[in-house]
Amino acid sequence: MSWTFSQRAQQLTSSAIREILKVTERPEVISFAGGLPAPDTFPVERLRASSEAVLAANPTAALQYGPTEGYMALREWLAARHSTPQLRIDPANVLVTTGSQQALDLLGKVLIDPGSRVLVETPTYLGALQAFSLSEPEYVAVPSDASGPIAAAVTAELLAGARFMYCLPNFQNPSGRRIPLARREEIAAIAVRHGLLLLEDDPYGALSYAGDALPSLLSLCPHNVVYMGSFSKVLAPGLRVGYLIAPPELHRKLVQAKQAADLHTPSYTQRIVHQTIKDGFLDEHIPTIRALYAQRCAAMLEAMDEYFPAQVRWNRPEGGMFIWVELPQGMNSFELLDRAVARNVAFVPGAPFFAHQPQLNTLRLSFATVPPDRIRQGIAVLGEILREAGKGVS
Ligand SMILES: Cc1ncc(COP(=O)(O)O)c(C=O)c1O
Repeated sequence: MSWTFSQRAQQLTSSAIREILKVTERPEVISFAGGLPAPDTFPVERLRASSEAVLAANPTAALQYGPTEGYMALREWLAARHSTPQLRIDPANVLVTTGSQQALDLLGKVLIDPGSRVLVETPTYLGALQAFSLSEPEYVAVPSDASGPIAAAVTAELLAGARFMYCLPNFQNPSGRRIPLARREEIAAIAVRHGLLLLEDDPYGALSYAGDALPSLLSLCPHNVVYMGSFSKVLAPGLRVGYLIAPPELHRKLVQAKQAADLHTPSYTQRIVHQTIKDGFLDEHIPTIRALYAQRCAAMLEAMDEYFPAQVRWNRPEGGMFIWVELPQGMNSFELLDRAVARNVAFVPGAPFFAHQPQLNTLRLSFATVPPDRIRQGIAVLGEILREAGKGVS
């Protein structure tokens, strides 16, 4: 049997991270590679009770097909959660998606034609590049610093014909950085002035362990934003419940695209999520996740301070699950990964997170799933490997 793949399918490649994760499944490997939330944070008993309650209360609705837009009680809860005294979110603008990854896929499908200009941060979330790339955009990588995309670099020339700019304001995957308020305001002002659509991807926003949440781009310029959120990092990713909030016209198109994709997100898991959170559970649960990640992040930073050579640079995140590392120029983190895996430690090279000009001397470390003593052990090994590799670099 022979077949011809579509041109679109020929462009598909496996996520570099998923490939690496296969290697790291061995129990002896200390893996800083995954973007997985810590399983100890999954509220198993609570979800079991919610599941039983859902099946007891209305089994046929939970097991029947449902509306494409999502379970109305959950949409109402989400609209209320994101409403502020200044901004009322209408539940009609909420679309429940099968993870926020599906929101990225649907947005790519309804907004990008081959060659359409799409602005992304440097670096940016690999999964978004994968989702958008199926529609063959022309990526423009916006120069970025430790505070996120540099607003002054978003010139009229860069913006010409842009369909949207994809932004990750909170504890970005991969860099862990958070966009400060002043920068958010600058980005919002550019969006309003130039009629630019912003896609705000925010799965880590609740996981701040240093102070209050900053205003979302949605709250700063609501007419210019599609906001994406997820229950993956605050409940459990296996539920596959995410959502987006979009202006009405765009919402309608996204609903049509979702109909074609999967009809709707499972009625059952949507109802389990709603049953779990409707009485304020997240407000007691999220602080326990923050505390665990803050402790693991501190353990990793302390070990890095102790074991990493002076020429290596990294950030000190205020939330989320990731630390971003920059090695001296000339070092290649793919080569280091081979050496690290041989010694049972894994991380993700930074290069796949760049739309253009991958920086081979970068890498991402996740501390979320590893207990502090193992973090120390793994970082000590990486420190040794970095020192050995540094000897060959001037
Ligand atoms: C920035 C970002 N967006 C979206 C996703 C997709 O998450 P999910 O589909 O589980 O909601 C992830 C997953 O790690 C992510 O890091």
